[in-house]
Amino acid sequence: MKVLSLLGSPRANGNTALVLRYLEQKLEEKGLEINRIHVGGLSIQGCKECFGCKRDDESLCCFDDDAIHVLRDILAADVILWASPTFCWGFPAQLKALMDRMYCLLKWKEGEEGYRSMLEGKLMALLVTAGGEEKDNADILGKAYQQMVSFMKCRSVGIVYIAPWCDESPLNREVCTKLDEFVDSFVSAKIK
Ligand SMILES: Cc1cc2nc3c(=O)[nH]c(=O)nc-3n(C[C@H](O)[C@H](O)[C@H](O)COP(=O)(O)O)c2cc1C
Repeated sequence: MKVLSLLGSPRANGNTALVLRYLEQKLEEKGLEINRIHVGGLSIQGCKECFGCKRDDESLCCFDDDAIHVLRDILAADVILWASPTFCWGFPAQLKALMDRMYCLLKWKEGEEGYRSMLEGKLMALLVTAGGEEKDNADILGKAYQQMVSFMKCRSVGIVYIAPWCDESPLNREVCTKLDEFVDSFVSAKIK
């Protein structure tokens, strides 16, 4: 099973990267293949609403920037693992821009009912870190993620919140237990 982990923080070695590395190592130990992209370090613009992607059933976004190779990797993966800090009660701008550009993976024809998702049946998972609490803060990202999973006709492995962040011992026993349980959800999703 190929997991594409998408690190949304601008910091390649920040808080989210630290817990993501732990998670990736555990997933590798279970035999899953990991490909990480540091989305926060890429140059990705938002959707231009040109609707060029709706001209046919196959094409990706017309705007040629770093999003294109990420979109290709998303299509090739079995699981998309989003890893994000909470920035102003939402996803950091770079990750949000990529999510908006994923609009090109939804296909429909004028006058026809319904739509096709190029990601139909794929698995997604979400890891969120936050300086503050989970409730009414980090969980806002979880809500948006769940909407995306449903709209993209994907399935969710689950969500793990590491909030509030603990600088003194970020990978403390409670955090590791949460992450280990999250890894188990991947394994059961693989069996189904
Ligand atoms: C621009 C910015 C906005 C932030 N907004 C929030 C917020 O709305 N809620 C919160 O709990 N933490 C917020 N934080 C704290 C980060 O979510 C937290 O420190 C996170 O673990 C950073 O992860 P990183 O090192 O991977 O970027 C913010 C941090 C920054 C830099």
